[in-house]
Amino acid sequence: MRTTRDLIAESAIPEHEAVRLLAMATDRPMTSVRIGFPVSTDTLARFDALVSRRRSGEPLQYIEGSVPFGPVSIAVDERVLIPRPETEEILEIVQARCLDPEVIVDLCTGSGALAVALAAVFPGASVYATDVDPGALAVARHNAEANRVAVSFFEGDLFDALPRGLVGEIDLIVANPPYLTVAEYAEAPADVKREPIHALVSGRSGTEYVERIAHEAPTWLSDDGVVICEISEFRSEAAQAAFDPLGAETVPDGAGKPRFVLGARTSEVA
Ligand SMILES: C[S@@+](CC[C@H](N)C(=O)[O-])C[C@H]1O[C@@H](n2cnc3c(N)ncnc32)[C@H](O)[C@@H]1O
Repeated sequence: MRTTRDLIAESAIPEHEAVRLLAMATDRPMTSVRIGFPVSTDTLARFDALVSRRRSGEPLQYIEGSVPFGPVSIAVDERVLIPRPETEEILEIVQARCLDPEVIVDLCTGSGALAVALAAVFPGASVYATDVDPGALAVARHNAEANRVAVSFFEGDLFDALPRGLVGEIDLIVANPPYLTVAEYAEAPADVKREPIHALVSGRSGTEYVERIAHEAPTWLSDDGVVICEISEFRSEAAQAAFDPLGAETVPDGAGKPRFVLGARTSEVA
């Protein structure tokens, strides 16, 4: 009888992906899969079906159906961008700066990853999230419920979707807006193109969203409020310039690439 080790060795996909899909097909931990155990013909058929999906270009995370994100697990499907590890670093920035926000807004929430994680980290805070895409909001609502946190979701264009009562009241705005140019998207790998295009492409310049967020954030921030926006590593100077009136501070990600721009209403970043 063939073992999981045989299947990993024979698989036409990278080893770490085969291990993950075998863990899924067998409902066993990855360590057991790596050590090896015999597999039934049913399991083999399940694994083959998963490998076919992967080989057709479906992202691994859509096949698995969820990703870990900080303290929470986030369900993902083709309606939402797959949350990236660098976006998780926004949680680390918030904690490293000892921010203790009472009112939090996540613009462009997608799967709800940031909103749900921040609601888990700050259980006393009021958390709001917006997205223009009703399909994404359905996934985000599911993720809030599944992680047993309260987030108020609003459909619409950036800040326009928020209740006007939040003007001047928001202690923390986070956003991972679309930031690819049309030209960059054209060059993106096939599995990235399985994610929603409107989650990825900002426009011709790639800085359209970050500029709008910088322009509108001061109206919505509380006196000590802070805004943290994920940006393209290739356009950090433009992002820094857009955030200049907010005392822009560019922060690198774990790989050392300029990835976040921070601003504050007081022009002194926390
Ligand atoms: C890069 S994804 C980020 C998703 C999630 N925050 C994350 O980090 O994984 C950008 C999201 O912005 C949404 N979006 C695009 N244009 C928008 C707009 N004008 N207003 C609000 N959301 C928008 C997309 O639907 C998508 O869900």
